[in-house]
Amino acid sequence: MKTLKGEIVANRKYSDNLYKLEVFSPYICKNAKPAQFINIKCSRQGSDDPLLRRPFSIYEIDEQFNVFSVLFLVRGRGTQFMADLRKGESLDFVGPLGQPIKIPENDSRFVLIGGGIGVVPLCLIAKNLKSIGKTVHFFAGFKDEAFYTWERDLIKILKDYKIFSENGVFGEKGIPLNYIRENFSEFKDHHFIVCGPLEMLKQAQSFLKDRKVRAIAIMEEKMACGIGACMGCVIKIKNKNNGYSYKKVCSDGPAFDLMEVCFD
Ligand SMILES: Cc1cc2nc3c(=O)[nH]c(=O)nc-3n(C[C@H](O)[C@H](O)[C@H](O)COP(=O)(O)OP(=O)(O)OC[C@H]3O[C@@H](n4cnc5c(N)ncnc54)[C@H](O)[C@@H]3O)c2cc1C
Ligand code: FES
Repeated sequence: MKTLKGEIVANRKYSDNLYKLEVFSPYICKNAKPAQFINIKCSRQGSDDPLLRRPFSIYEIDEQFNVFSVLFLVRGRGTQFMADLRKGESLDFVGPLGQPIKIPENDSRFVLIGGGIGVVPLCLIAKNLKSIGKTVHFFAGFKDEAFYTWERDLIKILKDYKIFSENGVFGEKGIPLNYIRENFSEFKDHHFIVCGPLEMLKQAQSFLKDRKVRAIAIMEEKMACGIGACMGCVIKIKNKNNGYSYKKVCSDGPAFDLMEVCFD
């Protein structure tokens, strides 16, 4: 992990508040692994306001051109700063952070389920799984059509995907978990990887636990340091004695066994 500066190659607007920021960084392209993230300084040079860096999953890595990207939604001050960055400017960031996801070697078939911006880390994971010969089914669920342009990125990685939106304006009407429920016999021997809102992860845990399916959750928590020093991002993880311990999403995660995550 290093503090780095990288030239912004492009900052593309995908929809009203969804952007893809592409950054030149041989170090990240060489060292970052699926599920890792970077912590971005969201203020101009010489200013520390806002003080805290903002965490973002690594979305794509183009090793040929040494360019990686993050896909982000504008939410507050930090992400508005990022949306205003222009080609040629420099991005100040720390990374790669977090542990790479451990791909279960003996499993050959995977179901990836992403809710909203939770699709971001799953894209690099899907690309990696495909590159090592695994079968991947990708399910994505959104509120509306804000991710419409994103489908063009996904289709470059794999063809076997289904998109759902709550109101039916993008993809099929509904949510991915309902589709999985209705067609579970097709997926019962797959390894699941899920990332999205807590409610979605909770429902996935409750459905898959009863069916003894193995699953990994990519967790998100509000972060301050991003390097395991402040304890700001701890979550409860069940242990073998029916108790639990605290784990840090930034340095122990962000990938955890879904069945071990305590959501209460
Ligand atoms: C490991 C990880 C990966 C992430 N990857 C992505 C991604 O790929 N794309 C994307 O759009 N967003 C991602 N997020 C969420 C993103 O970090 C927040 O949307 C962003 O920090 C909001 O900053 P802000 O200043 O615009 O919003 P504000 O709400 O003004 O932020 C205030 C503070 O809360 C923190 N914060 C607010 N929301 C979140 C959140 N959901 N998660 C963590 N901290 C938060 C900010 O870091 C900041 O310290 C990720 C979060 C984590 C923890
Ligand atoms: S953000 Fe500080 S320990 Fe995780």
